[in-house]
Amino acid sequence: MSNRPELPPEIARRRTFAIISHPDAGKTTLTEKFLLYGGAIQMAGQVRAKGEARRTRSDFMKMEQDRGISVSASAMSFDFDGHRFNLVDTPGHSDFSEDTYRTLTAVDAAIMVIDGAKGVESQTRKLFEVCRLRDLPILTFCNKMDRESRDTFEIIDEIQENLAIDVVPASWPIGVGREFVGCYDMLNDRLELMDRADRNRVAESVKIDGLDDPKLADHVPEHLLGKFREEIEMARELLPEFDRQSFLEGHLTPIWFGSAINSFGVRELMTGISEYGPAPQPQNSASREIAPEEKSVSGFVFKVQANMDPKHRDRVAFLRMASGHFQRGMKLTHVRTKKPMAVSNPVLFLAADRELAEEAWAGDIIGIPNHGQLRIGDALTEGEPLRFTGIPSFAPELLQSVRATDPMKAKHLEKALMQFAEEGAAKVFKPAIGSGFIVGVVGALQFEVLASRIELEYGIPVRFEGSQFTSARWVQGAKDKVDIFANANKGHMAYDHDGDLVYLTRLQWDIDRIERDHPDLKLTATKEMM
Ligand code: G4P
Repeated sequence: MSNRPELPPEIARRRTFAIISHPDAGKTTLTEKFLLYGGAIQMAGQVRAKGEARRTRSDFMKMEQDRGISVSASAMSFDFDGHRFNLVDTPGHSDFSEDTYRTLTAVDAAIMVIDGAKGVESQTRKLFEVCRLRDLPILTFCNKMDRESRDTFEIIDEIQENLAIDVVPASWPIGVGREFVGCYDMLNDRLELMDRADRNRVAESVKIDGLDDPKLADHVPEHLLGKFREEIEMARELLPEFDRQSFLEGHLTPIWFGSAINSFGVRELMTGISEYGPAPQPQNSASREIAPEEKSVSGFVFKVQANMDPKHRDRVAFLRMASGHFQRGMKLTHVRTKKPMAVSNPVLFLAADRELAEEAWAGDIIGIPNHGQLRIGDALTEGEPLRFTGIPSFAPELLQSVRATDPMKAKHLEKALMQFAEEGAAKVFKPAIGSGFIVGVVGALQFEVLASRIELEYGIPVRFEGSQFTSARWVQGAKDKVDIFANANKGHMAYDHDGDLVYLTRLQWDIDRIERDHPDLKLTATKEMM
């Protein structure tokens, strides 16, 4: 991964990234401050307020409100420092990781937020591993430094050891908890002071001429000064220097310390993204690599969100632009169906509201309202039959059968389930024999979300019940071999919403046995969406 100097300026100035974190580390607060500095909102608190307004429009969000989790991801665009930031929000709860994984296929970099008192937590680690699979460059923000937090070296060590990545301090905290006064900007030799009185005020910045500058003593309390100088010297001696290439390749992460709620350290982090973050990167397809500067417009759908506005029953497909300069009204080819599609109402998610996107460049995320034609993994191009690769669909880890409590509504239920399957909210399997459906999810909470959405959006009360099956595997192999296998195991076979064959399992042992007895078949836990 590298920045390509030949990129047209409109593309080169784009930064498309996601924030990954363990719930409660401060992602929402940080997002809000980004929007504040990006001029997209005027006042802190609007992100939540906006969330609430949306909830009243779409009632299933009530669950999100009740549980304090973010069920759905969205994308926000704003400008900072001459750069266009596209921030793709990832749901933080571990039950929704599949959605998150897919979101990470649409970004060029990630910000990892950790809580200074808690360090690397389970969800951070999981998400980090996904970023690593894609060699995404990662910037780290160590949050809540206004509270008692761990020793700085200890935090850095923990990240290095747990995540096997070099950590370079971009800033260094001075004092902890109540004594936290600010940070030393290691990259620019500046002292950044925190304003505790006003949470939304940008902190004061003092230019410092090295560690012997007498100005230091004016701003750092005397009893902290010695330790601070010592730590910086040690850090410079022991830790690697910032190396942009190494960062872009995902081997090294710069870390900023701060307090999102106090608006502290946020601007420095944003400057870090502008200055060092990657511009839109080439995307892989089955036939070739797509460079962002290519003239032809192309992009892929990484997320579908249904019923954002229940009055209109619309769905919005989120498209990551892979190349070209898109203009509203363009006629693109929907590669899967080979049909032309006029994209006349694309929306850009500026934080304040949805806005019509008159144009978009490689790296941007646009929302395309549609009636269900667009699915996750679909490509839109100016004609070339591209198939973007790397958008995974995971085998569900939990399966339950679902029934409408009113049997007259069975047909409607099928429609609702198919829609959620297309949206990627669940896996829906139709068993080869018998009636009914089996729904698969990655986390248990998803069953509740689904039941609540099916009732609210379709007016169908449903009941989920335990299933004899525990997991599903896609079956691949030569057609005649697959047919023989499917016939012999009818009671286990089902079809997913694309009509692809899956084997429903009771035990891991089943899978092992089939792999042993049928070496010419492949049972896979992931399928590339297309
Ligand atoms: P998340 O999206 O990662 O789940 O985290 P979120 O921003 O919602 O923050 C979780 C909690 O941590 C919130 O408190 C938030 O105010 C607090 N927080 C965020 N940044 C900082 C910080 O820099 N310092 C301190 N001390 N706290 C911070 P809450 O009580 O759960 O919610 P709220 O009532 O404050 O909204």
